[in-house]
Amino acid sequence: MEALRDDTYRKIATLMYDAIGLSFSDSKKPLISSRLAPRIQRLGMDGFEDYFALIAGQTDAGEFQMAVDLLTTNETYFFREPAHYDLLEEEINRTRPRTLAVWSAAASFGDEAFSTAMLLADMQTQGRIGNEWSILGTDISDRVLRSATEAIYPQDRLRNVSPERLKRYCLRGDAESEGMVQIQSKLRERVRFGQLNLCQEIQGLGPFDVVFLRNVLIYFDVKTKGEVVDRVLTQLRPGGLFFIGTAEGRVACNTPLQTVIPGAFRKPVA
Ligand SMILES: C[S@@+](CC[C@H](N)C(=O)[O-])C[C@H]1O[C@@H](n2cnc3c(N)ncnc32)[C@H](O)[C@@H]1O
Repeated sequence: MEALRDDTYRKIATLMYDAIGLSFSDSKKPLISSRLAPRIQRLGMDGFEDYFALIAGQTDAGEFQMAVDLLTTNETYFFREPAHYDLLEEEINRTRPRTLAVWSAAASFGDEAFSTAMLLADMQTQGRIGNEWSILGTDISDRVLRSATEAIYPQDRLRNVSPERLKRYCLRGDAESEGMVQIQSKLRERVRFGQLNLCQEIQGLGPFDVVFLRNVLIYFDVKTKGEVVDRVLTQLRPGGLFFIGTAEGRVACNTPLQTVIPGAFRKPVA
């Protein structure tokens, strides 16, 4: 197959930027090429230019989604950035809420949503939160959402989960699925997953008490970051907690926010 040409690369990058906000600089060309080439070969197509025509055309939404699945980076694991879960626990201890609605807004395979579910389930058992809590996980990638719904994980991704929680909330795989665990149905029932593009208008979702938007802003340019954060924050109730990845720097948005700890903010009560 012929190498990815600069002009074709720019067309693919522009298509992804316009549709889902991903900002690919010229240095990402080898990455894009290596992620798409096997798919193009499997389809028996001549090369990148034909593949661009297919995903840019109106006729094959499924293949566009496939390209999105291939071009998004979905790295995640349980209890990533544990200080954020500690803060949430402190907040619940302080406020003793009867209900709690949580949104994991770039949920990937669901690790963040199920980590939160483990924490909330424990707190419910200890009588520190009421029974009415729920978690919504959304992502642009179909592939990760299908996997999140099955809630089956390689054990390594749960390396930060305590042995007690593993016992309480996970089922070990049988011989066929050795090294894998599945989240038990009592937690799966609390977590819903659905597709949502952070670069489009969000309607009828919130309000949420807690929003995680972690480790996705790094894939957007400054303008898109600000727009996405402001859009997401319309779904957070005043007084609620908002988390981004600690490595993602300052949030450049129009919505006022108070810093609580690195990567964690509170939306002020007006
Ligand atoms: C690196 S993962 C972050 C997972 C998790 N929040 C964490 O911190 O471990 C980033 C996720 O953002 C999703 N994503 C990228 N662009 C998106 C968009 N425009 N709308 C919704 N999700 C998007 C990707 O599909 C990917 O699963």
